[in-house]
Amino acid sequence: MRKIITLTSMLVGFVFLTACSDNSPPTSTEKTRNTEKAKPAVAAKPVNYQGKVDQDIKRFRSFYSNKFPGVELDNFKDGIYAIDEATREQWLEIEEFPPYELSIDEGQEFFEIAFANGKSYADCFDNKGQAIRQNYPYFDNDSNQVITLELAINQCRKTNGETPLSYGQGELVAISAYMANSSRDQKFDIKVPNKAAYKAYMNGKQFFYSKRGQLNFSCADCHLKIAGSNLRADRLSPAIGHPTGMPVYRSAWGELGSIGHRYRECNKNVRAEPLAYQSEAYRNLEYYQTLMSNGLVVNGPSSRK
Ligand code: HEC
Repeated sequence: MRKIITLTSMLVGFVFLTACSDNSPPTSTEKTRNTEKAKPAVAAKPVNYQGKVDQDIKRFRSFYSNKFPGVELDNFKDGIYAIDEATREQWLEIEEFPPYELSIDEGQEFFEIAFANGKSYADCFDNKGQAIRQNYPYFDNDSNQVITLELAINQCRKTNGETPLSYGQGELVAISAYMANSSRDQKFDIKVPNKAAYKAYMNGKQFFYSKRGQLNFSCADCHLKIAGSNLRADRLSPAIGHPTGMPVYRSAWGELGSIGHRYRECNKNVRAEPLAYQSEAYRNLEYYQTLMSNGLVVNGPSSRK
C-alpha cells in the first residue's frame, strides 16, 4: 500500500512539475512596461531550478528505498547486483578479473595517440581528462545543449581536424571506459544551472515516463514500477544507478557498449524505433538519469551478464 502511495505521489509530483515548468521570471519587455507605468520595481525572484530537481531526486530515491528496504542507497551503483543477492557474489568474482580490463588498456592507448596536429584528447578536457567522468553529462550554456562524455570525445576530434568515431561500441567506447576508470569512486555531481537546462531535464524525464513501442512500455514501467521482477531470463534493474557503471561489458554483446547502446536495445525490446546515437532525446535522457544518480560514485566500466 505504501508503495502505491509513493508511486502516486511521484506521478502527481511529475504532473505538478510539468505544469509549473513555465514558471519563468518576467521577460525584459514586461520589465520595461512596469517602468513605463512607474510602478515600483519588484525584483523577480530567480527560479531555483536545481531546487526543483533536488525535490525530484528525493522522491525518486525514496521510491527505491521503500521498494528495496534492505539496499543501502550507495549500492544502487551496482545495477541489478544491488538487489539480486543470488548473482551478486558471482558478479563480484568476475569483477576481480574483469572482461573489460583489456579495453581499458586499449582505451588508454587510443587516448594517448597524438592527433595529426600534435594535440591530443588531454588538451580538450579539464584535468587532462583524468577523474572527470562524474561531471558528465553537463548542460552547455553556449551551445544550449546537453554534452555527454562521448559527444565531447568526438567534439574534441572534430576541433582537432580528426574524423569522428562511431558511437555505441568500439574505439570511442574504449576511450570512454578508460576515462571512467580514472574517475572511479568520484561522486556524480550534475547541475541544472538555468531554465534551458531545466527544459532539457524535463524533456529527458518525459522520455523516461512515456509509453512507447508496440508493447507500449515506458522506461519507468520496467525500471521503476516493476523493477526487481523477472522479465523472461532477466531481472529488471532499478533505474537509480543506471549510468554509474557505464560503459558496460555485457556477455550478450561480448564487448563494451555505451549507455546509448543500451537505450537503443531497450527501445528495440518494446518494438519501438531506436533513435540515433547521441540524438538530443537520448542525451536529455542520460542527463535526467544521471541527475537521478547524483551522489552515487562512478564505478564504470563494469560487467553485466
Ligand atoms: C520491457 C522492459 C524494459 C523497458 C520498457 C526498458 N528496459 Fe531497460 N532493460 C530491460 C532489461 C531486461 C535490461 C537488462 C537487465 C537489467 O539490467 O535491468 C535492461 C537494462 C537497462 C540498462 C542497463 C542497466 C545496467 O546496469 O547495465 C539501462 C541503462 C536501461 N535498461 C535503461 C532503459 C531506459 C532509459 C528505458 C526507456 C527508454 C528502458 N531501459 C526501457 C528492460 C526494459
